[in-house]
Amino acid sequence: MMNRWRRTFFAASLILVSAGCTHKPGAVAALKPTGFGAALVESSGGKQIGPTGMVLAQPLVVQVNDEQGTAVTGALVEFSGPAGASFDPPSGLTDSSGQLSTNVALGGTAGRYQFAARTSTKAQKSVELKIEEIALGYQEQVGFQLDSKYCARCHDPESTPERVSNHDNLEVKPHPFTEGDTLNKMSDAELIAIIGHGGPALNKSALMPPYGYTLSKTEIEALIAYIRLISDPPYHASGMVYAQK
Ligand code: HEC
Repeated sequence: MMNRWRRTFFAASLILVSAGCTHKPGAVAALKPTGFGAALVESSGGKQIGPTGMVLAQPLVVQVNDEQGTAVTGALVEFSGPAGASFDPPSGLTDSSGQLSTNVALGGTAGRYQFAARTSTKAQKSVELKIEEIALGYQEQVGFQLDSKYCARCHDPESTPERVSNHDNLEVKPHPFTEGDTLNKMSDAELIAIIGHGGPALNKSALMPPYGYTLSKTEIEALIAYIRLISDPPYHASGMVYAQK
């Protein structure tokens, strides 16, 4: 499967989280590792998109492997991230399949969040894995909802239980809004033009319909804010929240 940003968040995770309050300091003391690995890999749960302040729909699962790539049981893994974000649990020992699962709550600031998972080798060398998730602010959430309602059926090649994708039936293929290689080259003015007036406004296919009568200026701006934030690689002007050291 392609490692694309996941738009799955409204399905399961409208649980408001009082970030930080779930764990008292000291509650995680004295986790003694019984195993040590050489590598840390992401099994699932990276590259998710969720609203600010919410728990992401999928847990983040990481795996510790030894030099031969075999899963290591009982290795200590610690998660860290920018202020305001939190993990439940923030650390733990890997299970019999070498994995540790944690629930990630995003902070209150919209932007791209870089998280880190760490384990250490038998020789006390630290091994780090970086994970990225995206928090949508209010404007981007409006954009996400408009995308789901009007755009995703053509622009998202993946079907969901609620919606069958029309993407593969189109003669000219639209890009998923995560495809920064294409969308980052378009200016805001070009996006406004093609969304408002349809493909022909930019000498593109009329299969891209005009939305100027359906959507307000504010709604088109919300769509653009959303498209800019989820783009991969990142759009240069989009907010970045760095993980703490
Ligand atoms: C009926 C299918 C369809 C729908 C619905 C649709 N589009 Fe498109 N869109 C297209 C097609 C096809 C293209 C490619 C045109 C071309 O390259 O000639 C396109 C192109 C675009 C582009 C240029 C980048 C690219 O993907 O090639 C943007 C931006 C865009 N659409 C935004 C939107 C937005 C925002 C919505 C929802 C408000 C939307 N589209 C809804 C079919 C659709």
